[in-house]
Amino acid sequence: MMNYKNKLIRTFSSAASDYDQEAELQRQVATDLVDLFFKTTVTDSFRDDFYPSLDLGSGTGFILKQLKKQIGFTLINLDISFGMLKHLQNQFTQASCICADADKLPFKEGQFKLIFSSLMLQWSTKLEETLDEINRILAQSGLFVFSTLGPHSLSQLRQSWFLIDQRPHVHDFIDKETLISFLEKKFQLILFLEKTYTLYYPDAMQAMLHLKKLGVTYRKLDQGTKLLGKQALKRVIEHYEQFRIEDKGVPLHYHVFFGIVKK
Ligand SMILES: C[S@@+](CC[C@H](N)C(=O)[O-])C[C@H]1O[C@@H](n2cnc3c(N)ncnc32)[C@H](O)[C@@H]1O
Repeated sequence: MMNYKNKLIRTFSSAASDYDQEAELQRQVATDLVDLFFKTTVTDSFRDDFYPSLDLGSGTGFILKQLKKQIGFTLINLDISFGMLKHLQNQFTQASCICADADKLPFKEGQFKLIFSSLMLQWSTKLEETLDEINRILAQSGLFVFSTLGPHSLSQLRQSWFLIDQRPHVHDFIDKETLISFLEKKFQLILFLEKTYTLYYPDAMQAMLHLKKLGVTYRKLDQGTKLLGKQALKRVIEHYEQFRIEDKGVPLHYHVFFGIVKK
């Protein structure tokens, strides 16, 4: 049976070609994260202050794109999916890319002064260990700037599926208290905030297809995904209609935590 990491790689690699077209929300979150970083921490000498920097789970390079607007700023892009990195390099031919797992980073202790990570941490099955690894490669006083999904993400989908058989079908995202407690064990918390983004779709089927194209698996990858039949899917789509907002479509929430922490 394929293990969790292999499924993750396969999911994101097959999403890579559609990603840039479909990932409006991810682009917005990356933009908001970089804005937050500049508003909160940056001084005039920031290029020197933050060299070298890393983007963990870079995908096709939304963070790099935002930072490119700052002349001279470079960073290393790391992703577990070769497919995602290939798309990044098609756009940014000079970019440094490393295909590796965030849980086993091929770097020395204290190597980076700044680490970004936008919408990757939610796919970690051992978040405390992933944070330990980030802490290990971060220099003393270095910053970790991240976004990740919170528990109200995909809530309409979670509720609609739950009505079918009262079993969880949608990924459980970490709650704020647990996340903060993990962070505070290893870092000094500089900033933490949350924001809910809502996207609208013509119907639930379109919402699920959109997630699939992004590699956002709403089912747990590490659980045997017991697929339900066409009848169940039809009922999910019907249940989802209760959320419809006239003239807009059916909504789907993405609850995002933003954080800046210091080693
Ligand atoms: C939702 S995408 C976000 C990509 C990019 N940061 C953005 O904002 O568009 C999540 C990315 O994290 C990567 N990823 C997931 N788990 C990873 C891991 N353990 N190590 C490295 N990359 C990982 C995926 O391959 C995917 O490219």
